Amino acid sequence: MGALQPFFVVCLGLLAFNALVSAHNITELLAAFPEYSEYNNYLSQTKLDDEINSRQTITVLVFNNGAMSSLAGKHPLSVIKKALSLHVVLDYYDAQKLHQISKGTTLSTTLYQTTGNAPGNYGFVNITDLQGGKVSFGSAAPGSKLSSSYTKSVKQIPYNISVLEISEPIIAPGLLTAPAPSASDLNITGLLEKAGCKTFAALILSSGVIKTYQSAAEKGLTIFAPNDEAFKAKGVPDLTKLTNAETVSLLLYHSVAGYTPKGTLKSTTTPISTLATNGAGKYDLTVTHDGDSVVLHTGVDSSRLADTVLDATPFAIFTIDSVLLPTELFGKSPSPAPGPAPESSPSPAPVLAPSPAPASVEAPSPLGASPPAPPSDTPGGAPSDAPSAESENSTSTDAAGHVRAPALLILLVTVVATVISSIFLS
Ligand SMILES: *[C@@H]1O[C@H](CO)[C@@H](O)[C@H](O)[C@H]1NC(C)=O
Ligand SMILES: *[C@@H]1O[C@H](CO)[C@@H](O)[C@H](O)[C@H]1NC(C)=O
Ligand SMILES: *[C@@H]1O[C@H](CO)[C@@H](O)[C@H](O)[C@H]1NC(C)=O
Ligand SMILES: *[C@@H]1O[C@H](CO)[C@@H](O)[C@H](O)[C@H]1NC(C)=O
Ligand SMILES: *[C@@H]1O[C@H](CO)[C@@H](O)[C@H](O)[C@H]1NC(C)=O
Repeated sequence: MGALQPFFVVCLGLLAFNALVSAHNITELLAAFPEYSEYNNYLSQTKLDDEINSRQTITVLVFNNGAMSSLAGKHPLSVIKKALSLHVVLDYYDAQKLHQISKGTTLSTTLYQTTGNAPGNYGFVNITDLQGGKVSFGSAAPGSKLSSSYTKSVKQIPYNISVLEISEPIIAPGLLTAPAPSASDLNITGLLEKAGCKTFAALILSSGVIKTYQSAAEKGLTIFAPNDEAFKAKGVPDLTKLTNAETVSLLLYHSVAGYTPKGTLKSTTTPISTLATNGAGKYDLTVTHDGDSVVLHTGVDSSRLADTVLDATPFAIFTIDSVLLPTELFGKSPSPAPGPAPESSPSPAPVLAPSPAPASVEAPSPLGASPPAPPSDTPGGAPSDAPSAESENSTSTDAAGHVRAPALLILLVTVVATVISSIFLS
C-alpha cells in the first residue's frame, strides 16, 4: 500500500504534462458537420470550446442551424453562453448508455452548474428514457417539460467525448429572459468595490485607466483585479513612487484584450499580451494551471486566479491574490520600496549587466521580491532548485518560458526518485 502513494504522485505529475495536450478539439470535430456550423460558431465565440476541450468524459448535445438561429435570436452572447453551457453534460453518454439509464430517468450535471450562477438545480438536465425507445431531455427545474428528444448520435471518442443531436434546445426557466448586462451599462468600479478590490478600483479611476477599460469592454476585455489584501502584502513595492505613466502601465498590465474566461486560460500555453504590451514580449504574462487552479506569472511574481466577479461574454473580471509586478517595472530590483531589505542588495544595482531581470524569474527566494507565492504556484516546490537557467539573455519573458520547463522536469525527477527510493525501502 505504502508504495502506491508515490505512484499516484507520479500519475499526478504526468497529468500535469498531459493536461497541456488536448485530447479532443470540438471545433474540428463539428467542422465535419455543416448542419451544426452555427452551433460550432457560437461555441467558439463564447469560448465554450476551450472549456469543452479542457475536459474529459463529456457529452455535447447539439442541434441544427435552424434551432441554433432561433435560440440565438437577438440575445447577447452572455445569454447564449449560459444556454449552450446547459448542453454540455459532464458525463459520457452514447446511444447505448441513454437506453440503459437506471430506473429510466436521471439528472446529469452540466457546465452551466459549474459557473455557480445556476439557481437551484437549474444547472442539471433531466434525461428520461421514455417507453418505446424514445429518450427525452429537459431542464431539471421543477415543472419543466421534457420537450427535447434525442435524434441521433453524431460522433463518439469513447470515453472522452460524445456528441449527440437533440431535436431542440433545452431551456432552463428564466434563462433567456433574465436581464443581461450590456458592457456599456456596467459599473466597473462598483463591481470591483463589491468584490473587495477597492484599492484597484480607486487606482483605475484616479489614473483614468477606467476609460480604456470601458471602451475595451464591449469588444472583449478580461481584467485581473488584485484584492485589497494584495496591495497591503509584504514585499509589494511602494506604488506611490511610480510615475503616472508607470502606474498606467502597471494597471493596464492587469488586463488583456479579448474575452479570456477560465477555460481559455487553462488551455493557454504561450505567453499572453496584456493591454500594457507595447512590443513583442513586453509586459506579457504566462499562465500555468493545475487541475482547476490557474496561476498567472509575471517573471517577478505570480498570482492565483481567485474569484470570478463577472463572466459576461465578451467581458470578464477575476480577482487575484497578488499584485502582478511586470519585469519591465520591477525586474531590476526586487524591492524598489524601502521594504524589508534582502541581505544581498537592497539598492537597485543594475551596474553589472542588463541581466538582473530574469534573475528573479521563478526564484521566490529573495525576501523582498514578492509576497510568498500562493501554494498553488509552480507544481511542487521545485523552483528554488532551478537556478541560473537564465542570465543568458536579458529578455525576461523568454527566460520565463524557458525556466519553467526545467522546474517541471526537476519535479518529475524528484517524484521518480521518491518512487524508486520508496520501492527500495519497502
Ligand atoms: C482520451 O483521452 C486520453 C487523455 O487525454 C487520451 O490519452 C486518449 O488517447 C483519448 N482517447 C482517445 C480514443 O482519443
Ligand atoms: C481546434 O481546431 C480548430 C479548427 O481546426 C483550430 O483553429 C484550433 O486552433 C484548434 N484548437 C486547439 C486547441 O488545438
Ligand atoms: C425527469 O422529469 C420527469 C418528468 O417531469 C419526472 O417524472 C422525473 O422524475 C424526472 N427525473 C428526475 C431524476 O428527477
Ligand atoms: C458605481 O458604483 C459606485 C459604488 O457602488 C458608486 O459610488 C458610483 O456612483 C457608481 N457609478 C455610476 C456611474 O453609477
Ligand atoms: C538573446 O536574445 C537575442 C535577441 O533577442 C538573441 O539574438 C540571442 O540569440 C539570445 N541569446 C541567447 C543565449 O538566448
